[in-house]
This record gives sequence, structure tokens and C-alpha cells, in this order.
Amino acid sequence: MRVCVIGTGYVGLVTGACLAEIGHSVICVDKNTAKVSLMQSGKSPIFEPGLEEIMQSNMQAGRLQFTTDLAVGIEHGEIVFIAVGTPALPSGESDTRYVEAVARGIGSNLNGGYKVIVNKSTVPIGSGNWVQRMIIDAIAERQQDITGFDVVSNPEFLREGSAVYDTFNPDRIVLGSNSPRAIAMMQKLYAPIIERKFTVDNYLLPPVPMVITDLASAEMIKYAANAFLATKISFINEIANICDRVGADVTHVAKGIGLDSRIGSKFLQAGIGWGGSCFPKDVSALIHTAKDYGYDAQLLKTTVSVNKRQRLLIVEKLQQVLKILKGKTIGFLGLTFKPNTDDLRDAPAGDLLQALNRLGAKVKAYDPVISQVEADVTLVTDPEQLAQGCDALVLITDWQHFHNLDYAKLAKLMTNPVMIDGRNFFNPEDMAKAGFYYVGIGRPTTANGLRSTSALPTVTNELLAVS
Ligand code: UDX
Repeated sequence: MRVCVIGTGYVGLVTGACLAEIGHSVICVDKNTAKVSLMQSGKSPIFEPGLEEIMQSNMQAGRLQFTTDLAVGIEHGEIVFIAVGTPALPSGESDTRYVEAVARGIGSNLNGGYKVIVNKSTVPIGSGNWVQRMIIDAIAERQQDITGFDVVSNPEFLREGSAVYDTFNPDRIVLGSNSPRAIAMMQKLYAPIIERKFTVDNYLLPPVPMVITDLASAEMIKYAANAFLATKISFINEIANICDRVGADVTHVAKGIGLDSRIGSKFLQAGIGWGGSCFPKDVSALIHTAKDYGYDAQLLKTTVSVNKRQRLLIVEKLQQVLKILKGKTIGFLGLTFKPNTDDLRDAPAGDLLQALNRLGAKVKAYDPVISQVEADVTLVTDPEQLAQGCDALVLITDWQHFHNLDYAKLAKLMTNPVMIDGRNFFNPEDMAKAGFYYVGIGRPTTANGLRSTSALPTVTNELLAVS
């Protein structure tokens, strides 16, 4: 089928490249000329495992093109995806001006036969009808006969860092529309994915489940899924904070509750809280929509406030161990909101960094994919440079290869070998063996599992003497 994808952010570019990979002819449109030139040379503007490879092979096969010309893209597509950003406004509402501009652009350029317009951007509930209205208005201004179109909401659930894998292996495909014709075209578009033609071991798995519904319900599914996952994380973080006080280990608690199939084991990893381009923006937008319709979404507000507090928990933990932070040097292992991405949007590291700077601490950071930041932090290029002279290391991002560093060597390079594990990523005993005073989130502090408050380990006594 012929596809046009408007907007080449995470969702748009991954969708375009993956639809080309399953055999469709795709034109991706973006108004950013520099970005389009970069993609035309086979380079991805985002760090996403596997993406560049499928971009290049499909460009070579002639199935994937990039342009800044909206008219060219729309002319080409039987199915036109709107995949532009909907960033949060300072009020927490979604900024829909890009979706609006694209809807008008589609109306002004619509031509040829029947087309399906697909909302892939996470848009406020009710936007499907609004997009339809704007396209109709733009067509009316042209006073031309247009064969017709329908709007479908097709929310995206891909995760950064595993976006290509997620696109080929979705848990479900959601399609919202009142047009059976449009739904049938979307089913045809996704047929290779639904039939798992691009899944390893596809013969073991049933077809991908489809949820076919109306526009507003499809839009709501996206918000409800993200709000639920964010709430699940805030929940386990709250349990972790209680564990810290009563001497329980949240990693065991998460395992114990996660094995209940009604709860499920995923998204029960306690830590420094959730961030990124989706959860913060979508939970705030849902709270706003609820308010617009006269409902106070108290649970969701608490999900957000628990997360805000969780981001600063590390400051408390550093103060407990190092006491005065003014003049101390803290090293961040990782900066991004999660591993396998170079995305710093709404990363917990940002809030933590500001708080530490405010308290007079100096912050150094090592991140395997970040070489430039605007914040007040000294970036170093390897873990040894990071550890050199630090009073504490804080594990911010759980990159798998951080398991393979020589921690005994790092501990020796530090002024005080303290490890605050913001993701419960390490085995506390391994850290103790490497010479660290280890502090996790909601789990025992010392290697032998005893929580020590009055009897602080030797290293901490030295620390107290230093401060
Ligand atoms: C999320 C949704 O998972 C995805 O379906 C949607 O399309 C976009 O938003 P993403 O933002 O890429 O994807 O990241 P995700 O892997 O969901 O993690 C979000 C945040 O939650 C990260 O900061 C991560 O570190 C944190 N997290 C996740 C936890 O703190 N604990 C967990 O158990 C899981």
C-alpha cells in the first residue's frame, strides 16, 4: 500500500521505516530541512537500536523516501499518518498546534481517491472529530470536489529504546473509527504484523489482538495505558519508601506481588521515578481533560506528586550518608530517563541535578550516549574519570553494560566510595565486596542485610570525620 507519514519524531520515523520494512511504499514528510537531508543520507536523527539499518535497506529498495513537501506526501498516500508532536504546555495541557497545522495542510492538499487519515500522535480525547472538522473546512475553502476521507485513531505503544521491536511485536493494535472502510484498509496495512510475519518464532504465537472501537475510546486507551503504567511505578515507589522504613526489601516485595497474574511483574521496578516524553505529558494531559469535563482526577494527581518526590529521594539519601552536600562531588552514572535512548526529556536526572546544585554540590556525569548538555554538570567520557575524586556515585540509568564496569577500581578512585543505586540495579553484596557503602531504594543498606542507622559502616564513619 502507499503510505504517507507526517512528522518524523520517534513515532513517525519508526512507523514509516517499519511500514516500509513490511513491504509498503512510504514517504515521510517533515518540515525540518536539515533533518530531512540527514534522513535522506540514511542517517537517523534519533538513537534507536536497529532503526538506521532498516531505514537504509528500505531506502535502497526504493520503499522509503523523505521529503519536506507535504503535497508530494499526501498525493502519494492512500493512508496518511499524522505523527507530529503534542508537547505539554506549561499548564500541563497538550499543545495541539502542530496537529492542527497538519490537519489544515491535509485539507488543502487532499487529492486523488479516497484516503484514510490516521491520528498516531497522542492527541487529547475528542481530537479525531476535531481533525475531521478542520480537514473538511480546509477542503471547503478550496471549493473542489474531493472523493472523500475518513479519520482513524491508531495510538502507538512503542517504547523508546525498543521501538522497532515493539512495532513488529505489539501486544495489541487499537483502531478507532466509525468507518468500516477505513478500518478494513488499516487491517490490510497491518496484516503482516497481525499475522506475525516479522516475529521470530511466529508459529508459536496467535495473531496480534485487535481492538476496534470508536475514535474517543481509542484516544482514551492511549492515555489510560500510560496513566496506569505511571501509577503502577508510583505505587511500587511508595511501597519502596515504606520498605525503607520498616526494613523490608522492595525487590522481594515486587516479585512476591508480581507473580499474582492479576498484578503482573512488569513495571514494578522501584527507583528514582518515571520520566521521558510520554508518561509526564500524558498523565498531565489526562488530568487536564478530566478537569475540563468537571472531574478532579485525584489518583492521577497523586501519581504525579509521588513521582516528583521520588526524584528528589536521592538527595535525602545522599544527605543521610554524606551529611553536608555543599562542596561535595557527586557522580551520575547515566543521565537519560532510561537506557538505550539518548532522550533527556523530563529525565529524573534533571530535577536531581538542580537540587544538588542548589545545595552547593558539584555534579559530574558519564553517559554512554550523551556528549553535550545545557545543564550545570561536568560531562566526562569514561567511568574512571567519573569516579575520580567523587564523594558518591548515583546510578541514574540502568544501562545493562554498567554491570560490567570494574567497581573495585572505581571505589578506589573515589574520595568516599558511596554508591546510591537509583534503580536497584546492583547486587548489594557485590557492591560491598567492591568496597562500596551501598544504598538502594527500599532495600537493606548494608551487605549483610542489616539496616544500620546508629552503627554506620566504617567508610561512613570516615565520611563523617571528613564532613
Ligand atoms: C512509555 C510507554 O511504555 C509506551 O507504551 C508509550 O508508547 C510511550 O511511553 P517510554 O517512555 O519509552 O514508553 O519508556 P518506558 O520503558 O515505559 O519507561 C518510562 C519510565 O518509567 C522510565 O523513566 C523508566 O525508567 C521508568 N520505569 C519503568 C520505572 O521506573 N520502573 C519500571 O518498572 C518501569
